[in-house]
Amino acid sequence: MPIFDAEKLRADFPILSKEVGGKPLAYLDNGATSQKPQCVIDSTNQFYGCGNANIHRGVHYLSRTATEAYEAARSTIKAALNAPDSQELIFVRGATEAINLVTNGLEEQLSEGDEIILTMMEHHANFVPWQILAERRGLKLHFIGLHENGSLDLEAWKAAFNNRTKVAAFTHVSNVLGTINPVAEMTDFAHEQGALVLVDGAQAIPHGPADLTGIGADFYVFSGHKVFAPDGIGVLVGSCDLLNSFRPYQSGGDMIDRVSISGTTYREAPERFEAGTPNISGALGLAEAFRYMGEIDWVAAAKHENNLANLAATELESLGDVRFFGTTEDKTAIVSFLYDIAHPHDIATILDTEGVAVRDGHHCAQPLMDYLEVTATVRASFAFYNNESDVEAFARGMNKVKRFFG
Ligand code: ALA
Repeated sequence: MPIFDAEKLRADFPILSKEVGGKPLAYLDNGATSQKPQCVIDSTNQFYGCGNANIHRGVHYLSRTATEAYEAARSTIKAALNAPDSQELIFVRGATEAINLVTNGLEEQLSEGDEIILTMMEHHANFVPWQILAERRGLKLHFIGLHENGSLDLEAWKAAFNNRTKVAAFTHVSNVLGTINPVAEMTDFAHEQGALVLVDGAQAIPHGPADLTGIGADFYVFSGHKVFAPDGIGVLVGSCDLLNSFRPYQSGGDMIDRVSISGTTYREAPERFEAGTPNISGALGLAEAFRYMGEIDWVAAAKHENNLANLAATELESLGDVRFFGTTEDKTAIVSFLYDIAHPHDIATILDTEGVAVRDGHHCAQPLMDYLEVTATVRASFAFYNNESDVEAFARGMNKVKRFFG
C-alpha cells in the first residue's frame, strides 16, 4: 500500500542533510536533476562490489546473473509504466538520446513536404533533433503557441494538422512552466489524423510513473537522473513495429544477428538499439528507483509538492515586482519567475549564499524564452522530499535579494 510521509522519505536521501557554506542545503533544482535515495546508491555499489560482469555474452555465473538482473530491470520499469505489450523498452543515455534515436529512425520514412507539429514549450532535446531532421529531409515544422497562463493553445495545435502531418512531438510537462499537457487527448487526436506521437516525459515521471497504456503514444521518453536514478541512463518506450522498421541508430556488438564480410543482419528491438556494452549499473539503479517510487502515494506527494510551490509563490508575491511564468491551475511544482529589481543570475547567486539551489537562465528552452520575450527566468523546482524549511530558506534568500538590490 503506497504511503506518503515526506520527512521519512527525505531521510532516505543522504545529500539532503548536507550543509552548503554553513547553511542547510535547500535543494530546489529538481527540474535539472533529482537527488538519489540510499537504495539507488546501494544498488550501484552492490553491482560493482558483488555483481559486475558483462551481459549477453558469458556463460559464467556473474555474466548470467548480470544478464538476468539487466533484463529484470527492463521488465520492472515496463510494468511500473504499464507499457503496452505491443511496445518495447530500450535503454538509452537519456531523453535526448531517445529522441535522436527516433528522429534518426524516421528519417528514411519521411519525404520532402511532410510536416511535424511541435510546441513552443519544448526543451531543446525535443526541438533541435526535429529541426535537424527537417533540414535533412525538407520537412515543414509547425511551432504551436501558448496562452497567457502557459497552457498550450490546443485549438491552434489541432488546427495545424493536415494530410501531410506525419508526427506530433510534445512534452508531457514543461520544464520551465510546469504546465501539464493533456497528453492522452492529444495522442488520440493526432492518431485520428494519421500522425505518429512522441511524448517527452522527462519532467512528468519525477512526479509519479505515467500510465503508458492510457496515454497511447507511439514513443515515450525520459531520463533516469531526473527520476531519482543515476545519470547516463534513460528510457525510450516505443511501438515494436515502428522500432523494427527503423535502421539501427548505432552499430556494433550485441545489436547484430549475423555479421559476415558480405553483410550484417540485425536483431529486433530492444537489442537492435543497444549496441555495445550498455550502462548496466544505470539500468539496475533505474529499476531500483522505480521500486522505490512504487512505494510512494503520488497523489499525496503532488499535493505536498504543490503546497510548497504555492508557499514559495506567496513569499515572492509579498516582495512586489515579481512576474510569474506558468500559472495554470493544474501544473507540477515549478515556480518560474522574474524579480524586476535583479538579474536572474544575481538572484540565484544570492540564494546560493543561503544554501538554496535554484536554476537561472534559459532552461534549455530558448525558443520559449523568445516567445515569452525574456532572456532568462529563475526557476525553483520541487520534489516530494522538499519541506517547509526549504521554502523558508528560499524566502530568506529572496529577502536578502530585496535588501541588496531594492
Ligand atoms: N532539462 C533540465 C532542466 O530543465 C536540465 O533544467
